[in-house]
Amino acid sequence: MSGPFTLAPLPWNESDLEPAISARTIGFHYNKHHKTYVDTLNKLVAGTPYADMPLEEIVRATVAAREGSDDRKIFNNAGQVWNHDFYWRSLTPKGGKPKGALARAIERDFGSLDALLEKLADEGKEQFGSGWVWLVSAGGKLSVEKTANAVDPMAKGINCLLAIDVWEHAYYLDYQNERPKYLKTVLGKILNWDFAAGNLDKEDHAVRAAAE
Ligand SMILES: [Fe+2]
Repeated sequence: MSGPFTLAPLPWNESDLEPAISARTIGFHYNKHHKTYVDTLNKLVAGTPYADMPLEEIVRATVAAREGSDDRKIFNNAGQVWNHDFYWRSLTPKGGKPKGALARAIERDFGSLDALLEKLADEGKEQFGSGWVWLVSAGGKLSVEKTANAVDPMAKGINCLLAIDVWEHAYYLDYQNERPKYLKTVLGKILNWDFAAGNLDKEDHAVRAAAE
């Protein structure tokens, strides 16, 4: 989808993630922060070749732009629009556990689900300042990555399975400065493993198609 970009609807109601994340946090995060990224992106790309490009292409085309440039401003906002759309879909009030091919890949690459969750918590804690922690797959192999500010692994062509926002605005109203507590709750209770499984499957198909 190319511009003008719209604020995609949330996949659940603002209060559905309580008590892990309050309706107040989701309300500010979605209606203020996420919406501002969408509005700013539309203003920045108006009248430029980016106005006709799909969002993912804009992110990939601008990821290497230098700090302070107009393209960097476009990257920051395009990245944050994509990241937030992905984050909302990485969360679900239903909870649950990984199943099938995803569960087997987690065992193979991390040893256990608990080991993966510990790794996500550690990387999320260690991300200095604003950023994101990701479960990704490359050639079917799973790993955890952390990124700063608006950067995401998708910009480098890496397939993302799950994202967790570790900017302060994602947790401050509920957890104040206690990022580890926010991470522990989100990781343990509201990750959307079906979304992750669907994303892993997409990469499997792409790898198979390329091999044929
Ligand atoms: Fe955010």
